[in-house]
Amino acid sequence: MGQLKTLQALCLILSLLLLTTTTTTADDSDVMSKLAESLKNAPKDWSTGKTYCYWEGIKCVENRVTSINLASKSLSGSLPSNLNSLTQLTTLSLQSNSLSGLFPSLANLSFLQEIYLDTNNFTSIPSGCFQGLSSLQVLSMSQNINLDPWVFPIELTQASSLVTLAAGNANLYGSLPDIFDSFPNLQNLRLSYNNFSGFLPKSFSGSGIQNLWLNNQQFGLSGTIEVLSNMTQLNQVWLHKNQFTGPIPDISKCKTLFDLQLRDNLLTGIVPATLMSSTAIQNVSLDNNKLQGPQPVFGSNVRATFEGTNSFCLTKPGPCDPQVNTLLEVAGALGYPILLAGSWEGNNACDRWSFIVCDTQGKVITVNFENKHFTGIISPAFANLTSLKNLVLKNNNLTGSMPASLLTLQQLQLLDVSNNNLFGEIPKFPDTVKLITTGNVLIGTTPSSGGGGGGTPSGSGSNGTTPNGTPAPASGGSSVSPGMIAGIVIAVVIFFVVVLFVSIKCYASKKHGKFGRVDNPMNGIEIAKSDVMSSANGYNGVQSDLHSQSSGDLHVFEGGNVAISIHVLRDVTNNFSEDNILGRGGFGVVYKGELHDGTKIAVKRMESVAVGTKGLNEFQAEIAVLTKVRHRHLVALLGYCINGNERLLVYEYMPQGTLTQHLFDWREIGVPPLTWKQRVTIALDVARGVEYLHSLAQQSFIHRDLKPSNILLGDDMRAKVADFGLVKNAPDGKYSVETRLAGTFGYLAPEYAATGRVTTKVDVYAFGVVLMELMSGRKALDDTMPDERSHLVSWFRRVLVNKENIPKAIDQTLDPDEETMGSIYKVAELAGHCTAREPYQRPDMGHAVNILGPLVEHWKPTTNEEEENSGIDLHMSLPQALQRWQANEGTSRMFDDLSYSQTQSSIPSKPSGFADSFDSMDCR
Ligand SMILES: *[C@@H]1O[C@H](CO)[C@@H](O)[C@H](O)[C@H]1NC(C)=O
Ligand SMILES: *[C@@H]1O[C@H](CO)[C@@H](O)[C@H](O)[C@H]1NC(C)=O
Ligand SMILES: *[C@@H]1O[C@H](CO)[C@@H](O)[C@H](O)[C@H]1NC(C)=O
Ligand SMILES: *[C@@H]1O[C@H](CO)[C@@H](O)[C@H](O)[C@H]1NC(C)=O
Ligand SMILES: *[C@@H]1O[C@H](CO)[C@@H](O)[C@H](O)[C@H]1NC(C)=O
Ligand SMILES: *[C@@H]1O[C@H](CO)[C@@H](O)[C@H](O)[C@H]1NC(C)=O
Ligand SMILES: *[C@@H]1O[C@H](CO)[C@@H](O)[C@H](O)[C@H]1NC(C)=O
Repeated sequence: MGQLKTLQALCLILSLLLLTTTTTTADDSDVMSKLAESLKNAPKDWSTGKTYCYWEGIKCVENRVTSINLASKSLSGSLPSNLNSLTQLTTLSLQSNSLSGLFPSLANLSFLQEIYLDTNNFTSIPSGCFQGLSSLQVLSMSQNINLDPWVFPIELTQASSLVTLAAGNANLYGSLPDIFDSFPNLQNLRLSYNNFSGFLPKSFSGSGIQNLWLNNQQFGLSGTIEVLSNMTQLNQVWLHKNQFTGPIPDISKCKTLFDLQLRDNLLTGIVPATLMSSTAIQNVSLDNNKLQGPQPVFGSNVRATFEGTNSFCLTKPGPCDPQVNTLLEVAGALGYPILLAGSWEGNNACDRWSFIVCDTQGKVITVNFENKHFTGIISPAFANLTSLKNLVLKNNNLTGSMPASLLTLQQLQLLDVSNNNLFGEIPKFPDTVKLITTGNVLIGTTPSSGGGGGGTPSGSGSNGTTPNGTPAPASGGSSVSPGMIAGIVIAVVIFFVVVLFVSIKCYASKKHGKFGRVDNPMNGIEIAKSDVMSSANGYNGVQSDLHSQSSGDLHVFEGGNVAISIHVLRDVTNNFSEDNILGRGGFGVVYKGELHDGTKIAVKRMESVAVGTKGLNEFQAEIAVLTKVRHRHLVALLGYCINGNERLLVYEYMPQGTLTQHLFDWREIGVPPLTWKQRVTIALDVARGVEYLHSLAQQSFIHRDLKPSNILLGDDMRAKVADFGLVKNAPDGKYSVETRLAGTFGYLAPEYAATGRVTTKVDVYAFGVVLMELMSGRKALDDTMPDERSHLVSWFRRVLVNKENIPKAIDQTLDPDEETMGSIYKVAELAGHCTAREPYQRPDMGHAVNILGPLVEHWKPTTNEEEENSGIDLHMSLPQALQRWQANEGTSRMFDDLSYSQTQSSIPSKPSGFADSFDSMDCR
């Protein structure tokens, strides 16, 4: 501790020295006198001969201007073009004046955090004026109505700390560029009253935006608003007065959305039940769209309006006519085209609805969508139009397969689906039906086979039909309802808590020459400016390989982990290029990269998070543990990076990709299907990896989401369990770095859903599901299957009731001989055992290893896996293991005040403040 204090003092002295050197040469008097000249009505003391640092509204540090605050001072005149030579400026507040002329160039003001220039009279924006604003958090420049039309400044992507961007009523036009993944901290986006056109950018998906104001665009934004469903942090959404089309998406993941303004658009479809039942929603306007179906009903505490041009079936709440419902479902499968919404009004489908012909009994006999440019799929709900004789869908852009439910239409005479993009099997219609399928290149094939049909085995069948070609029930709709899909996906949770994060950056601050602790006057939070954080301590020596290559890319801190600078990660991932994406998970996107020495890495860029000191300490503590967990079947964590509020984890790269790809997408990636031998070997590897984690974890300390996309395959097709996290099991939620309560329905044990408690038995269950996938070649959840088959566990457990069913249920690519079949029966039994309903009925992971081991040994002699482990005694608890590491190091401070017990659920955070995270590396 004492040594640290000394180091810290040295840093301070060093930085003060640097600062003095710079201030003898730099001075802001030149630009400040220009500013005084060009402003009209500047405050009186600006002309009294006082030094500029004492002028009203000016703040300095060491003679350099850091802040200009002259809001609402009736200023007019203009700003000098060299304003950006105030290189130490952090705040510029000149809002509510009458400044005119060119907007000031702020380029390269790398300390500038806040810009307020709203409500002025600027006339144009110089190009490149927002480049290099690497610390910028707030850009607020709304109400500059005399600006020449300008487009969204792409160079703002360099402002990766941006929290607020407000430029309403500022004459912006053109499209919103797809760059919002550059702003992981963006919370407020206010661009109302401009002239934007085009679509909502894809990169809104997964963003942390809370307040989205894009209303009242002159030309109008268009396309669907589907992306809202993925913007889980939303509070306020103002999209009124645009040209948006398509249905209102399922917003059930937007748990804090209270204000949704969608009026005056061209939205269609049925108001989703998830909106009406949302407990957060308080204000909704849906007026003047083309919404369909029953009138929505909101709770009495919700202010909701939906008057105007909407096409609800009735003028009061209540269900629509069944035939109307069916046709709406048909329209839904086509994305609710505006063309249909325009004419399909009222509650009688036979009353002048376009493209519909009825008989005298009021039954639909013809549906003719010829040449309508429709996309989407053919709804199985057509089967509910029981009198249908003619169904003409030719010359559209329909995809998917022909639903087998159409076979139930007894009256059908003509079915013309020519010139679309349909694929899959053609149901076997009776001779009475005139069937035209020409002009569908892929029809008769499964989408990925590319063959001419016939010879290609299809393990999972095609949409609407079961694998053996029997018709699916005509209940209809299950494959098209987005609500269903959303309903079964359980929210993935990351909790990085708090907002406060301080860092002291010394050696890295060649730019700044002083401590990077900056008060943010707006909200009082302190913002980190550090790229490379020093690390928590506790080094156990397993990373000597990295030590040796720490030259340019890595900073291996003496006591601890490997911190990798964001610059290096940007560099090696080609600036997080789309082309480098290896996969996307609930916690972020994973990119491929190659360090300068040729080491391939996988970089997980975690989703935007707010970070507090405590959160940061815990994160580092977590890293300290995870980098130590080494096992042949666990992907190694090589290092990490903290950049502002962004966290990145760097893992070992697995060249063969995920098990998912090899199991379900093998045709697409051009590899042969996995053999049974490979599958059992993979299962054993995974079982060993998880068993190891369990041995460390005792109960529920380390958890992973066991599904095939988290199982990675190395060069030799050995499986590794991709990543793992420490999990909160404290009911008070105290441990908050990252909760891995994630999982996809289909892998989650039933008791998990009810209790949310992560136990080893939850892992065992998920492992059982993975075994079932390995056997059947089918996904845990396959909503293209009929209901009774879509949930793999339920279906497979029914299969298991009778051993004779198993051969029919296994992946058809396996084509097992008798001996292999024997092995399959054993794995099938294990899978059933692992997925037992009651947790206590499930075996532990060791049992799985014992069952699978001999099956693999059957092919090849075992290697002694345990010898390849990290040298940690498998029977040691994690706390014991940590203490062992600490003892080995002799130097660790990290766990000094650590009193582990099994009741203490979290990794204790580092004892005290930042001094601890300093080490000698920092002062270089
Ligand atoms: C803004 O500038 C225009 C000329 O560019 C001028 O006519 C107008 O009066 C100015 N408005 C204000 C509020 O200063
Ligand atoms: C800002 O810095 C970049 C890179 O250092 C340089 O290319 C650019 O000319 C600078 N812009 C201004 C306006 O000084
Ligand atoms: C708004 O943008 C559209 C399309 O970009 C353009 O055609 C139109 O002229 C703009 N309107 C105004 C008033 O600038
Ligand atoms: C929503 O997120 C999921 C998962 O990241 C993605 O597959 C999907 O395309 C996103 N949807 C939209 C509309 O952005
Ligand atoms: C279609 O018919 C089935 C069986 O009668 C019924 O359960 C389902 O609700 C109907 N679907 C629609 C959209 O009317
Ligand atoms: C048909 O749809 C596909 C993808 O859905 C699209 O790429 C293609 O451009 C569309 N073709 C037409 C003529 O609309
Ligand atoms: C089923 O339909 C969906 C959506 O149209 C499509 O993505 C999927 O590939 C289809 N599956 C099969 C096996 O045809």
